[in-house]
Amino acid sequence: MSSIAILGAGRVGTSLARAALAAGDDVTVAASGDPARIRLIVEMLAPGARAATAAEAVDGADLVVLAVPMHEFRTVDPAILAGRVVIDLMNQWEPVDGPLPELDAAEDGSSTIVQRHFTGTRLVKTLNQLGYHELEEDARAAGHQRRRALGVAGDDAEAVAVVSAFVDRIGFDPVPVGPLAAGAALQPGGPVFGVFHDAESLAAAVERVAA
Ligand SMILES: NC(=O)c1ccc[n+]([C@@H]2O[C@H](COP(=O)([O-])OP(=O)(O)OC[C@H]3O[C@@H](n4cnc5c(N)ncnc54)[C@H](OP(=O)(O)O)[C@@H]3O)[C@@H](O)[C@H]2O)c1
Repeated sequence: MSSIAILGAGRVGTSLARAALAAGDDVTVAASGDPARIRLIVEMLAPGARAATAAEAVDGADLVVLAVPMHEFRTVDPAILAGRVVIDLMNQWEPVDGPLPELDAAEDGSSTIVQRHFTGTRLVKTLNQLGYHELEEDARAAGHQRRRALGVAGDDAEAVAVVSAFVDRIGFDPVPVGPLAAGAALQPGGPVFGVFHDAESLAAAVERVAA
């Protein structure tokens, strides 16, 4: 069993909490403020998970997930994530986030900008490619013929391995696609975002973009 801290108690945060609980993980969820505000939500939507402050949730966690709106990622204190393995599943979504010119201009993908804020964090991009409801709808046991694949991008090989094991545990085939900058191929507008790929077709789609 691993302990998973999810920062963000919204659509993705609570869906992922359920998926991690179903996989046998210990799950703590935090929003931006007092955990009392989300206690009932967490109890209802992810029974078995605990509500905590972000700092409490992250303390001692094996894996942290950043599930906050992209335009709010800088409200998360980078000090609490230093040295941690962290999944960045955030997407810049203009109707929600508004224009974010710095991210629009980031040829190496939004995660490289996020990484600059979280100095010393072992950031891995994944889980951004599917809708929150698909986390449960599309999850399949390992070896299933119709198992969906998710790209995993990161600079730290050990962090990529930890995150890949988590992706596998919650029902998807992890496909390492290269360094964090390769996460650009996983973003909205790319060949992977919102598309049902198996492992082979995902790797081929990312390769075509890189060529
Ligand atoms: N929705 C999807 O299907 C989907 C799929 C893949 C990826 N994503 C990405 O996942 C992220 C979250 O999306 P969502 O749809 O789940 O958003 P959401 O429903 O609006 O939830 C956002 C959550 O983030 C929390 N939050 C904001 N600032 C925080 C902070 N500093 N520390 C901890 N929690 C904080 C909010 O809590 P407060 O109420 O306290 O502010 C809220 O619980 C976005 O970047 C989105 O692009 C979404």
